[in-house]
Amino acid sequence: MCGIVGYVGNKNATDILIEGLEKLEYRGYDSAGVAVLKEKNIELRKYKGRLSVLKENLQKDKIEGNLGIGHTRWATHGEPSDINSHPHMNSGSAIAVVHNGIIENYLTLREELINKGYEFLSETDTEVIPHLIDYYYTGDIVETVKIVVSKLEGSYALGIIDKNNPDTIIAVRKDSPLIIGIGEGENFIASDIPAILKYTRKVYILEDGEIAVITRNNIDIMKTDGTRVKKGIYDVNWNLEAAEKGGYDHFMLKEIYEQPKAIKDTISPRYKDGSINIGEFDLSKEYIDSVNKIYIVACGTAYHAGLLGKMFIEKYAKIPVVVDVASEFRYGSPFIDENTLMIVVSQSGETADTLAALRLAKERGAKVMAVTNVVGSSISRESDYVFYTWAGPEIAVASTKAYTTQLVSLALIGIDMALKKGTIEETEAHKILEEIRKLPSQVELVLKNVEDIKDIASHVYKSKDVFFIGRGIDYYVSMEGSLKLKEVSYTHSEAMAAGELKHGTLALIDEGIPVIALATQDKLFDKMISNIKEVKSRGAYVIAIAKENNEKIEKTVDKVIYISEAIDELTAVISVVPLQLLAYYVALNRGCDIDKPKNLAKSVTVE
Ligand code: AGP
Repeated sequence: MCGIVGYVGNKNATDILIEGLEKLEYRGYDSAGVAVLKEKNIELRKYKGRLSVLKENLQKDKIEGNLGIGHTRWATHGEPSDINSHPHMNSGSAIAVVHNGIIENYLTLREELINKGYEFLSETDTEVIPHLIDYYYTGDIVETVKIVVSKLEGSYALGIIDKNNPDTIIAVRKDSPLIIGIGEGENFIASDIPAILKYTRKVYILEDGEIAVITRNNIDIMKTDGTRVKKGIYDVNWNLEAAEKGGYDHFMLKEIYEQPKAIKDTISPRYKDGSINIGEFDLSKEYIDSVNKIYIVACGTAYHAGLLGKMFIEKYAKIPVVVDVASEFRYGSPFIDENTLMIVVSQSGETADTLAALRLAKERGAKVMAVTNVVGSSISRESDYVFYTWAGPEIAVASTKAYTTQLVSLALIGIDMALKKGTIEETEAHKILEEIRKLPSQVELVLKNVEDIKDIASHVYKSKDVFFIGRGIDYYVSMEGSLKLKEVSYTHSEAMAAGELKHGTLALIDEGIPVIALATQDKLFDKMISNIKEVKSRGAYVIAIAKENNEKIEKTVDKVIYISEAIDELTAVISVVPLQLLAYYVALNRGCDIDKPKNLAKSVTVE
């Protein structure tokens, strides 16, 4: 996820662009740049690092001009660097482009352009766009952009300027947000409303497949086939702080609701015509056959995701997996050699304990694969293989969209390994992939059911203790649900293996104590009903998470949150969402500082 801004008008474009980018840094902040038209030439300034680096350089070396585009980056293709920063230009420096999204067919386009004599400076997917505009240039920039857009696959919000059209910005939208700010004698484009709120509260929201041709006094919007689009003006009544959260009250809630898109963005570039296509690396069959043990090592939420990874890899790739928290692993006596593969899972890619475990494994001759959300992070740079969760920046301390994208990433990795080892039939792998592709819409359905969860939270938030129970995958998810509740609402909570209750923890159950019972695993459903009866008969207030069509559970519990039918191995991606929402609304009812819980940090870079 990146931030785009653009300006055309009478003011100094550079100042407007920087102000706008400052309001979009939450969308990505590993590098930033601007391109401004000055006396018929496009001046480009772009740097690795936070926006302040660009700002300092521009203060020393200002650009005067009234038309420009800017970008703050969250790297996906090509690690953070000056040259990989946006805007990107064609070799003649006549065209500048900023992009938010992923061009999925960029490798093919890049190869075709190189064969036509084009030279690429960066490793990014975006750089194909200015060269394509250059190649297809008809003399009419709008017609050219329509041709180029027809060649692109994937998601993109584009801002384009062309020195031969010194008063025009072109904006294009497909699957990544883009708005047009309507001013007096000036107009703006931006990825999100906060960037332009200082200057106007009147916006057009571009829809997928729309192109806008913007000058200081005119805005033309059309479909890519040229048909004109008549749009209503949207009057923004948000305050600035709410706008940065996309209208949500907290980043945590915004990121919970971003999960369908985050999961889709993580899956779709790795799925081609029914099979897995992990573009970042290609595990060879001989290598994966040589692996006789896998360690999955992580911390907190990432560790909970690792537990699901174990289930997937052992079940399908038939390789033994040990999952451990990094702070324990690195001080234990793990058996590691060149036949060991370590998978580290880390949203930030900077967690000290996880990084230390990675280094220990490499010292002992193991290869390391990272599942991480940050391109160019320490963990990504020190790993042999990197699988990115393209969830976009996760700002809230409580990890939500990172967890669900880690789950689908580990599922794809497990299936890929199994296909390489021949331990799964292509048909079965295809079936599982089709189930994985349903997940974004299944998560969407849970998000629509938020009123029931709010109602449950209004009952639960008064409790001193809340327990979570489950078996197998449901037990792993109950650990994540319990952690969410603890860290954002400061409620004491514990996840308990339901089969273990009678061995001691049942003693904790008392009249009225809320117990969240996860009962999504078909093969363990009846066992779970018995465990629910154990706690119910001791007076617990039981809220079940169950698959739809399991209405019989209603006779046994106080409340049920239903989730869509999904294969057992994938229910975690869906069943965790009600638990995330429950934690959020309990914390809201308790008046907690949800995005920045006390005592915690987003990235634990100390041991
Ligand atoms: C999860 O909500 C917590 N914020 C925390 O447990 C986190 O998952 C853990 O610190 C690991 O962080 P990482 O994924 O960035 O390595």
